[in-house]
Amino acid sequence: MNNFDILPERHGTNSLKWDFAKERGKNKDILPLWVADMDFRLPDEILNKFKSIFDQGIFGYSEPLDSYYDALINWNKRHYDLDLDRKYIINGCGVVFSIANLIRALTKENDAILINEPVYYPFKETILANNRRVAIAELKPNKDNKYYFDYDLIEKKIIEDNVKIYLLCNPHNPVGRAWDRSELEKIAEIAKRHNVFVISDEIHEDFVYNKKFVSIGKVMDKGYAICTAPSKTFNIPGLHSAYSYIPDDKLLNDYKKELVRVGYSQSNIVGIKALEIVYNYGDKWLKDVKEYIYNNYLFMKEYLRINLPLAKVTELEATYLVWVDFSAYNLSDRRLKEIIEDKALVWLDGGIIFGRSGSGFERFNIATTRSLLKEALDRIIRALNEV
Ligand SMILES: Cc1ncc(COP(=O)(O)O)c(C=O)c1O
Repeated sequence: MNNFDILPERHGTNSLKWDFAKERGKNKDILPLWVADMDFRLPDEILNKFKSIFDQGIFGYSEPLDSYYDALINWNKRHYDLDLDRKYIINGCGVVFSIANLIRALTKENDAILINEPVYYPFKETILANNRRVAIAELKPNKDNKYYFDYDLIEKKIIEDNVKIYLLCNPHNPVGRAWDRSELEKIAEIAKRHNVFVISDEIHEDFVYNKKFVSIGKVMDKGYAICTAPSKTFNIPGLHSAYSYIPDDKLLNDYKKELVRVGYSQSNIVGIKALEIVYNYGDKWLKDVKEYIYNNYLFMKEYLRINLPLAKVTELEATYLVWVDFSAYNLSDRRLKEIIEDKALVWLDGGIIFGRSGSGFERFNIATTRSLLKEALDRIIRALNEV
């Protein structure tokens, strides 16, 4: 038995995924496969190093040391051949937080920001909460069960809405694409032609299967920023260890002014040290966890093909989030949600929250044990087969 087959007891651990069903109006016995964190413990080798953070016994205001930058720069070079200049790296508490600050630093109220729906829903929320306009260029689903950019639509929207920022999701949550270099080159070309700044959210970069992740930093030399973190990769979003790469002196300075404006200064010592530890010692665990998750995906695809053939599983190139099309059942989004949540007792993220083009879909977080995944699928299969 693999360690990943053992479900840790997460009840009573302040877990958003496991402890707050009642507060969010769900049945207490619901199986949670929604929010993007993993039901996997880090290995003892890493956890013991985390414990050493507490040995100093003093938790004063903290900033990254050289060792932080070394670990981060080496990780990006080693895995993605990406050369980061230390002076443009800025640590922070969250990827969405960094995106919000960049949006304010780069635009003024009512400016338009482009997103590719269906996409991680806090993109739209953050844009609107900052009184900016959302321009939507939907991704195009294809017969090969993958989604693609619609370059003509992107360009049309940029012109029509006078777009200032392209908020790119690479890899893309929820459709599971890791954009090819040639695709990113086309996006870069369009952005450059229309003087649009690209913010690339690369938080899922380390979960790319059977191909190589390409950062926006490999195809652009200016006019972009990267917002990312080791938080998905090593299941540490609760430690607030995000960072941004902003290779532009003026923008970096404006970004820092935004931090002052929201009253944010030094970050969490545990987050800083955790990044250093996982980036230095996490390669082997990451390889193993990716293999387990990818096998979960293969299992799920085959299991649904046999037992629920009307459900169409989108190809998973990246992330641990599987995008499944239930539209062949001809159910409203509300009815589909009722069947999955109230009848099957499985908690997923309904596709409609990712944008109108997500209607009829559900997003499964498969970073859990195969047996829990099977149980969730069995419940859904039973419930839908009774419809
Ligand atoms: C694309 C994307 N960006 C950002 C986040 C969240 O990042 P953070 O918690 O650091 O704000 C997630 C979490 O699921 C995500 O999928």
